Amino acid sequence: MLEHLENLPPDPILGLSAAYHEDKNPNKIDLGVGVYKDETGMTPIMAAVHEAEERLLASEQSKSYLPQAGVAEFNQGVLELVFGRGHTVLNAGRAVSVQAPGGCGALRIGAEVINRSKAGNTVWLSDPSWPNHYPLLQGADLTIRTYPYYDMARRDIDFAAMLSALQEATPGDVLLLHGCCHNPCGADLDAAQWQALTDLVLEKALVPYIDVAYQGLAQGLDEDAAGWRQMASQVPEMLVASSCSKNFGLYRERAGAILFVAADSAQAETAKMQAMNAARQIYSMPPSHGAAIAGLILNSVDLRQSWEQELQAMRDRVNGMRDKLVQRLEAGGQYDFGFIRKQFGLFSFLGITSEQIQRLRDEYAIYMVGSTRMNVAGLTPDNIDYFTDSLLAVL
Ligand code: LMR
Repeated sequence: MLEHLENLPPDPILGLSAAYHEDKNPNKIDLGVGVYKDETGMTPIMAAVHEAEERLLASEQSKSYLPQAGVAEFNQGVLELVFGRGHTVLNAGRAVSVQAPGGCGALRIGAEVINRSKAGNTVWLSDPSWPNHYPLLQGADLTIRTYPYYDMARRDIDFAAMLSALQEATPGDVLLLHGCCHNPCGADLDAAQWQALTDLVLEKALVPYIDVAYQGLAQGLDEDAAGWRQMASQVPEMLVASSCSKNFGLYRERAGAILFVAADSAQAETAKMQAMNAARQIYSMPPSHGAAIAGLILNSVDLRQSWEQELQAMRDRVNGMRDKLVQRLEAGGQYDFGFIRKQFGLFSFLGITSEQIQRLRDEYAIYMVGSTRMNVAGLTPDNIDYFTDSLLAVL
């Protein structure tokens, strides 16, 4: 049987890490996979996570199965993190959360529930989007259409083109939006654009599906959430896939949640049952460790304070690196990279050619996704000069 399987090329993002690790060049830089790195180039375990792990180790009584929806404290914490305490959908009991294995698991369970409601339903994805959105959604038999989002020539969102393409959406179609820190381009919607999209969702009876993988890494936990919270207060239904990989640094622990906002609490409970049933058919129930950590942090005053401070330091470092990068690239007065300053999160599109990306890799051991997406967090005080010199050399 297995001889009938075809070989596959490496994953376009995860494959870069493997190639980087094999590279012997002492100056090599990994600007590929989207993980936060500190100024020494390490992806650290956050202090609050360490402390939560110690407390859990001391208090954990059993390794029996979790309930199907996961860790209750985590689900409640994520609902409040995503929507903000006292949000109307929480007060009305219209929002539920089901823990999932990471943001990917959440996206997939959300897609399975969408397909159960309307087989083969259409999901509108931004062009460009995170490449893994395609297999995750298509794997649940959903149909994908795209709307233009980032205009490479203007280095900005082409909002008029986005709205115009979405005129073709029909009632019940799902509109997938990146909550903040757009992956791959770093260009985020502003408040007016969120409101215009809310109006469109209402007018055309669409269902927004928000991918929240980077909350807290743009401008702040609440600031980053303002757009989708504003939308949630006006629309009858919404799905949110929330990930703890980046903002808690829990990548390998696979902690995330799929959230459903429904017209009323009974419909929200039905969506929750469907999500738990979909998970039961794939992996039964989520793993405990990462969600137990995040749940404890979100619900303890001291751990939460420590976590928020460290998250702020992470975001400040990335934003500071954006600034330094632009200063260096523009020093000769020849190029305009100012757009990098206006973008948020780990990623920006450099907008260079695929030959230049290849030369950076072959001649300088600098690894970036072929779409010209760079992980700004891969830059450190030690490697930024080598990076800018190399980039200017290939331009
Ligand atoms: C990325 O986009 O690099 C991250 O979200 C990691 C991944 O799973 O692709």
